[in-house]
Amino acid sequence: MYSAVNHNSKTKGRIVRGCLAPHPPHLVFAANPPQNEPQASGAGAWQGLLAGYAAMRRSLEAAEFDVVIVHTPHWKTRRGHHLLGVEHFKGLSVDPIFPNLFRFNFDLHIDVELAEAIHAEGEQRGLVMSMMRNPEFRVDYGTITSCYLTRPAFDLPIVAISSARSYFDYSNEVGEREMLALGEATKIAVEKTGRRALLLASCSLSHRHFTEEPEDPEDPAFEHIYNANQAKWDRHVLDLIERGCNRQLLDEMPDFMEQSASECKDGSLTWLMGAMDVPQLGGIVHGYGTVIGTGNAVVEWRLDQAEVQV
Ligand SMILES: [Fe+2]
Repeated sequence: MYSAVNHNSKTKGRIVRGCLAPHPPHLVFAANPPQNEPQASGAGAWQGLLAGYAAMRRSLEAAEFDVVIVHTPHWKTRRGHHLLGVEHFKGLSVDPIFPNLFRFNFDLHIDVELAEAIHAEGEQRGLVMSMMRNPEFRVDYGTITSCYLTRPAFDLPIVAISSARSYFDYSNEVGEREMLALGEATKIAVEKTGRRALLLASCSLSHRHFTEEPEDPEDPAFEHIYNANQAKWDRHVLDLIERGCNRQLLDEMPDFMEQSASECKDGSLTWLMGAMDVPQLGGIVHGYGTVIGTGNAVVEWRLDQAEVQV
């Protein structure tokens, strides 16, 4: 069992900031970190998104964190919500779609106590929860990419949460209810364990994408939104986010998922909203751009600077 500490402190036991931190492997490829085997020329089409991530990293330097908690669409679990439950993972993570861009040697430390606390709080809310205890587990590229782009030093322990199949097995509405409950479980676990947490929702917005890759994946001529419909949805969603209309965003989320093939259907953004108590707080959009035609936004909610308390 975990012990409750610093419930009432202004600095401990709270979600300090929440971020929408999408995970196109192209962005890691373009940044050429030493951990990634493929090498890019650096002349890629994704400069706007990379600049957005750079701006968010600068902004996050103003806050202090004990842990990064990420919800990832690319650890898909058939039964319930899983959390990494081993203190250290090391290995090679390969994107199954883009092995030419992402073969990343990862070395991650896990906050197992916090993961177990989220597990317990989730169970209390009726969710099916599971701890992943296999030390040989290959951590998914969604977790690694979002963590790398947000905090490349990997100097904080992480908690990684899988995406259950509730939206796909039942309905968008069932999925949304589960993710709000999982968000609440995350929030309470953070408070009870006294962590200062940075939350990452690792998903794109619109997600209809091209099915053919150009010979040069960095060719800017290839990169644009897939269709006007999904671009319009992305603009609308970002307008709601900037104005702090997060309740309306959740009301419209099932339609957004269906009409723009949104990756939000894996639950990450709704989990983040639930964890932040669906605040009436505008998100700061640091960047927006396309990757193989999908719409991606880098957004930060500065809860620590807001009057809204989470
Ligand atoms: Fe994805």
